[in-house]
Amino acid sequence: MTVNIILLGPPGAGKGTQARRLVDERGLVQLSTGDMLREARSSGTEMGNVVAEVMDKGQLVTDEIVIGLIREKLEGSDAPGFIFDGFPRTLAQADALGELLDGMGQKVDGVVEMRVDDDALVERISGRYTCGNCGEVYHDSTKPTKVEGVCDVCGSTDLRRRADDNAESLKTRLLEYYKKTSPLIGYYYAKGTLHPVDGMAAVDTVAGEMAGVLDRL
Ligand code: AP5
Repeated sequence: MTVNIILLGPPGAGKGTQARRLVDERGLVQLSTGDMLREARSSGTEMGNVVAEVMDKGQLVTDEIVIGLIREKLEGSDAPGFIFDGFPRTLAQADALGELLDGMGQKVDGVVEMRVDDDALVERISGRYTCGNCGEVYHDSTKPTKVEGVCDVCGSTDLRRRADDNAESLKTRLLEYYKKTSPLIGYYYAKGTLHPVDGMAAVDTVAGEMAGVLDRL
């Protein structure tokens, strides 16, 4: 039996952090549209250049591009389930995901809404850095690497800060979230699949709450 979960929440809510744990603990496949778009922008193609400009401003990339990326990943997949991290982000994307999964005889089983105060989001985003090799997520004060400049997980020294993790872009990302993505809370509530969790708690506590949600599905 497959299980498909959406992690819904504003920038910095902890979606990526929790998705990585679910991959390790449950064997689900993480589909992060942010990661896919960062890969596209580093390709240097025309599409990649358009994507880079939009992302750096903190705006949303078009539904057409993002849905196309997800479609490619789902088609022909025999994964035991997916964790959708940062997708869907608009009502059109949510409708498209429903149709894609329906075509595979599957559905969205649960939507975990991660609730975090705006002030905490700013603090989390401004201190974040990521391993460019394995994707592990760190924070200057709450989760620094054990040895400065070296990833705890894979030993890489390729630690990066994201181009869109700055105050100006974050303001737009939050506005985009409240305007275009937060309507999905009502959309999934109406379908009976919404599960709010307190994203302000410590990482392990949030993971425990999410595990409880998954176990009940
Ligand atoms: P994306 O990469 O999806 O970024 P985001 O949604 O803005 O979310 P983040 O990755 O910033 O945060 P997160 O929730 O994963 O938090 P994390 O775990 O890293 O999208 C980037 C851009 O791509 C968008 O702006 C848009 O342009 C485009 N895009 C992507 N998807 C799209 C779509 N579907 N449609 C259109 N455009 C799209 O944690 C953050 C920090 O907090 C870390 O340092 C972490 O260590 C720390 N932390 C995590 N949890 C906790 C905790 N519980 N307590 C304390 N600290 C914590």
